[in-house]
Amino acid sequence: MNTILFAIAAYLIGSLSFAVIVSKLFKLADPRTYGSKNPGATNVLRSGNKKAALVTLLGDCFKGWLAVWLARKFGPEFGLGEGSIALVAIAVFLGHLWPVFFRFVGGKGVATALGVLLGLNVWLGVATLATWLIVAYAFRYSSLAALVASVFAPFYYGLLFGTDTILLAVLAMSGLLIYRHRKNIGNLISGKESRIGSKKS
Ligand code: G3P
Repeated sequence: MNTILFAIAAYLIGSLSFAVIVSKLFKLADPRTYGSKNPGATNVLRSGNKKAALVTLLGDCFKGWLAVWLARKFGPEFGLGEGSIALVAIAVFLGHLWPVFFRFVGGKGVATALGVLLGLNVWLGVATLATWLIVAYAFRYSSLAALVASVFAPFYYGLLFGTDTILLAVLAMSGLLIYRHRKNIGNLISGKESRIGSKKS
């Protein structure tokens, strides 16, 4: 029962779509109406407002971290074990992808996944972020960087902790993240993907 309560709380935290909230606060257009139409930091950056994009990135990352941190910090008191932490990790991620507060139209999960990984283990998060940064710097595609980082994340987890239930959650997150990027994958293949820094259209 406690696991379900923690998972519901995590899902609700994940449902806070910072791209939409921050855009409203900055009086910008709704990110679901321009560019890739994705409510995420990369698309908010296409509005030209770097500060709003950064706040979106930090907010979406923070919520992933927070849900996992809360479960790890207070979970043991409520009998939560490894499987419950894995469930909470997935729940906050699902909240971002299909947010109850925004008609289930959510983002692709990159920043939230990073927050989850940081919450699970700092080095896991840092290694995945470094992978994202290297690919983003080399190719200037946010989506490609996210795709490569999401392939590497389960390997980093396996190297650090071996195989356990949480690895399944990391694998599920990566799988969902790749699935959410299917349009980006098509655009990358056809050469239509927009590079980091290009403005909205
Ligand atoms: O954070 C999502 C990113 O990987 C791709 O975003 O807006 O280019 O589809 P976007």
